[in-house]
Amino acid sequence: MTSRPEPPFFPRIVAEDDVVPAESWENRPVAAWGSDWGIGERLIILERVGSTNTLARRLAEEGAPNGTLIIAEEQTAGRGRAGKPWRAPKGRALLLSIILRPERPLQRNDSPGAIPLRVGLAAAVAIEAAAGLRVQVKWPNDLLVDGRKLAGILCEGSLTSAARGYLVAGIGINVAQREGDFDPSISQPATSIRIAAGDDCERAVLAHALYRAVVGLAPVLTEPLSDEELVRLTARDPLIGREVTVDGRPAGTAHGIAPDGTLRIIGANGTIDHLRNGTVRMVPGTQSR
Ligand code: BTN
Repeated sequence: MTSRPEPPFFPRIVAEDDVVPAESWENRPVAAWGSDWGIGERLIILERVGSTNTLARRLAEEGAPNGTLIIAEEQTAGRGRAGKPWRAPKGRALLLSIILRPERPLQRNDSPGAIPLRVGLAAAVAIEAAAGLRVQVKWPNDLLVDGRKLAGILCEGSLTSAARGYLVAGIGINVAQREGDFDPSISQPATSIRIAAGDDCERAVLAHALYRAVVGLAPVLTEPLSDEELVRLTARDPLIGREVTVDGRPAGTAHGIAPDGTLRIIGANGTIDHLRNGTVRMVPGTQSR
């Protein structure tokens, strides 16, 4: 039997998507990047969109294939975790969403809580290679450099259906912002590759490395974190051994990430809690234990 070429997927764009397609990106036609990266029409590059994640979710619902990549220069309704907005000045960040289609529906032994950490680790390694920085992965979805937020991960989807299951991995990386470019209302100090490394990196090189790393996760996406992943996460964990608050309340000492993606916290009475949700902050002025 001869293998058939992949059928093209033509996205149906609607007014709510607030989409302006780009003809070129980083000084080359969009089609040239699709061809170089071997993903052809699965690459969508936009001058503007409401949110790459919102568009990716809709396209996934409509049948977009595994490995569809949406990059935008500007988002007018970018979203972060817990319903927070995500803002970045036009052209200064790398804003993208990747559609992954796991090979099977979620099973009882799976660990969906591992997904953002697995994607975060892949993104950290890609940034380290492209920009020469050491990147920390703060549970559950922040990438930090020198204690300041460099990037955020927003994973969303529907993994229970065998036929139509999908995950959207949304990643926003601050690339070329200068001090003063960040919204003063954001709750965490932010940084960019330009600030942290003293220079921009090539967004196309970073985007391609990131894409390959994240698409490569599809076969193991929902599995518990492996020993190797846990070692690599532990080496990049800024919380480990630190006194932390959860949603503003003192919670205890962070004790690392568990294979299911929960954060272990040792409380005052010595019991270990496994945190699934919440915003964790280090208590200022406390030392690592
Ligand atoms: C967070 O730190 O809370 C997650 C931020 C995720 C932002 C990215 S930018 C690309 C993609 N589209 C969105 O609307 N959000 C994600």
